[in-house]
Amino acid sequence: MSTLVLVGSQWGDEGKGKVTDVLAEHADVVVRYQGGANAGHTVVAGGRTYKLHLVPSGIVHGKTCVIGNGVVLDPEHFLHEVEYLRGCGLDVDRIHVSDAAHVIFPYHKTLDELEEERRGEGRIGTTRRGIGPAYMDKVARAGIRVGDLLRPETLRRKLEANLEQVNHLIEKVYGRPGFELDALLEQYVEFGRRLRPFVTDTAVLINRAIDRGEHVLFEGAQGTMLDLDHGTYPYVTSSYPTAGGACLGSGVGPTRIDRVVGVAKAYTSRVGDGPFPTELRDATGDWIREKGHEYGTTTGRPRRCGWLDTVILRHSVLVSGLSGLALNHLDTLTGLRPLKIAVAYEVDGEHRETLPRQLDELAAARPIYEELPGWDEPIGDVRAFDDLPAGARQYVQRIEAWTGVPVVMISVGPSREQTFLRFEPFGGRRAE
Ligand code: IMP
Repeated sequence: MSTLVLVGSQWGDEGKGKVTDVLAEHADVVVRYQGGANAGHTVVAGGRTYKLHLVPSGIVHGKTCVIGNGVVLDPEHFLHEVEYLRGCGLDVDRIHVSDAAHVIFPYHKTLDELEEERRGEGRIGTTRRGIGPAYMDKVARAGIRVGDLLRPETLRRKLEANLEQVNHLIEKVYGRPGFELDALLEQYVEFGRRLRPFVTDTAVLINRAIDRGEHVLFEGAQGTMLDLDHGTYPYVTSSYPTAGGACLGSGVGPTRIDRVVGVAKAYTSRVGDGPFPTELRDATGDWIREKGHEYGTTTGRPRRCGWLDTVILRHSVLVSGLSGLALNHLDTLTGLRPLKIAVAYEVDGEHRETLPRQLDELAAARPIYEELPGWDEPIGDVRAFDDLPAGARQYVQRIEAWTGVPVVMISVGPSREQTFLRFEPFGGRRAE
């Protein structure tokens, strides 16, 4: 066993950053495979807090870090992050960027904003980082890739063609000022010059590392319910956070993936718009938001909070082939009694155990809950499953029963020490 894919099992913000950080210690290479600077995580290591958006958190442990071809890269943001990490005394030479990753330009961000405004009430609630428009260019075969930034003539040709269309849209449809070719070209050639040392064929790099038996951790951004195909379309991001995305977004075949772990909070949260069956728009929801510090890392937006939904977790097990769950924020639920977990939905009088794919059905879904007693004892100092209070053990066991997969990692507080593993991430299952 040498490769592990880590995915978000809910709507993103499950605390993947912390889990990656803990697992990265056991890894040699950490790979980001989709999304862009829309993701954000906070890593606390060596008494220091790092806020990262693009570079995998493995960098704070001196690991080789890869930004794969499936990522959309904002060069300005990336170079800024590199300077920040260098300033922290970290070895940034270990960061590698795929020459096939697509590049975000300022007009992608402008279009992201303009399109959100146009959608009005039907807005998606994007992070406005240009993610959707950059992936639109990629799929339309008009995208500009990192490798193009190293070739000024190719870049000029592609940018010129793109600006013709983009400026038409921005000026004629939205009545806003367009972008000027020469200024943009100059800026992005300079980005290319500064990016050059990091750029390589990362598919070759990762596969060679696997050949050598190194431990490779694939770090998903966002989560299952934001997946372009398997999430609550159209309230999704424009990439593939599910496990299959790791293969596509890194150039590693599915036969080389050994294990997939889904990260989930002990409850559910969501930023942005769209249906959320177990949402609590009451004092209990507020209680979870305050106790769990549920405010977005990237946008600072308050997150919508609700009960744990095992329909969603089973969907994640299904579409990503999860071999286990990492359960975060268990401590947040201390003192909340009784607890509820959704085990199925009722949709138009029909009992449903799988996730309705149609948005109107999901919006109409009434969760069917199982009630559990919960616990009052603080658990921040617990480091083994058997030392958890009976109510917390029961909560975890019911999640295992409803999802059919083991909870392999439990987090009982914000620091990395407040986490315990119930398995060997790159080996056999650990006996407790
Ligand atoms: P976009 O990825 O900026 O296009 O936003 C699309 C949807 O994904 C919106 O609902 C965002 O709030 C959500 N989203 C994007 N990135 C994250 C993330 O890292 N955590 C949680 N939600 C995210």
